Amino acid sequence: MNDPRSKALAVLGRHLSAINAQNVLSRAVRDARLVGTVLTLADLRRMQPQIERGLRLFLPAATVATVLAEFDRAFVPAGPPRAQVFPIKAESDVSEARLAARGLCEQLGARRVVAQKASTVVSELARNIFMYTASGGTIELVPTAGPRPKLLIKAYDEGPGIPNLDEIMAGRYRSRTGLGAGLLGAKRLVERFEITTGATGTRISAEVDL
Ligand SMILES: Nc1ncnc2c1ncn2[C@@H]1O[C@H](COP(=O)(O)OP(=O)(O)OP(=O)(O)O)[C@@H](O)[C@H]1O
Ligand SMILES: [Mg+2]
Repeated sequence: MNDPRSKALAVLGRHLSAINAQNVLSRAVRDARLVGTVLTLADLRRMQPQIERGLRLFLPAATVATVLAEFDRAFVPAGPPRAQVFPIKAESDVSEARLAARGLCEQLGARRVVAQKASTVVSELARNIFMYTASGGTIELVPTAGPRPKLLIKAYDEGPGIPNLDEIMAGRYRSRTGLGAGLLGAKRLVERFEITTGATGTRISAEVDL
């Protein structure tokens, strides 16, 4: 099994009995208040202090250091995440792009709320492409790793454009459903937001600091 939880248990299991490995991990999950969630790589990296505390109950300090180093190696992502491009034509493409955005954010170590924010923006922009253009369009996710990780979200289409953009961005437009974050909501969620629209289509570029 290759999911984060099994990988963590495999590392711990090299130094502890299976039952103690389980114990250390579930105690760390509890102490990090992550109960009831699916563990991600980012969670495991953040849980290091709790795991260390658990390991100290069973192992001498030198071995604890070894296990933590093995942990580090096991959970370093294979390389910097790469840009991903999603054609948006069907409803299922919207969720695929949204999930990919969340995955990229987590790979870059973003907190859960920030990953949620980025995936909401992707979902809104992709849904608009799906709903308001006949030919569909594209979502491009461009991650930047490093000390200041970012996710650049590009949305472009060759649809009819948005003639009443000013009204929408001024908050004077009432969305059809009023349910989603919409364009204005998306703009408020991100650090940088640019939109150009006209008869040949719409291009949006939104950037989230992770
Ligand atoms: N890519 C696009 N191409 C053409 N028109 C668009 C596009 N995106 C948005 N629009 C137009 O702009 C309007 C406002 O979009 P916005 O996403 O803010 O709200 P909504 O889609 O109407 O409702 P909500 O997103 O809240 O469900 C839409 O109703 C639609 O007319
Ligand atoms: Mg919308």
